[in-house]
Amino acid sequence: MTNSELLEQAKVAATKAYAPYSQFQVGCALLTTAGNIFTGCNVENASYGLTICAERNTIFHAVANEGSGMKIASLAVIALGQEFPPCGACRQVIAEFAGPEVEVWFLRDGKPFSMTMAELLPASFRL
Ligand code: THU
Repeated sequence: MTNSELLEQAKVAATKAYAPYSQFQVGCALLTTAGNIFTGCNVENASYGLTICAERNTIFHAVANEGSGMKIASLAVIALGQEFPPCGACRQVIAEFAGPEVEVWFLRDGKPFSMTMAELLPASFRL
């Protein structure tokens, strides 16, 4: 699974997004250290604050399938027609299941670009 393939899977997931309010269709794909791939999209709600981002939807799905030992090996996120890195809330949730060396992939100037979790969320909160 190359990083481009992971981004491609995230793009397919973005087409499933339920985003009637923002029109911002986001998809995520992650590879676990166990070798499984999970995908997910954002799901919005008329009560806006109940919206779930694509990254958290995907991570929760991965935990529900693999169990509490799920670890992220790499993660890709993409929005149809937009370029962005994960939001702050999702960075904290990714950090729960990924070490500081894990690469997070997204598009920058139309090309795959990655940052490590250490770069995306330095000094992350841990209990
Ligand atoms: N969104 C994500 O899915 N992931 C992010 O990292 C940022 C934002 C979604 C939430 C909402 O449905 C839409 O994008 C606009 O904020």
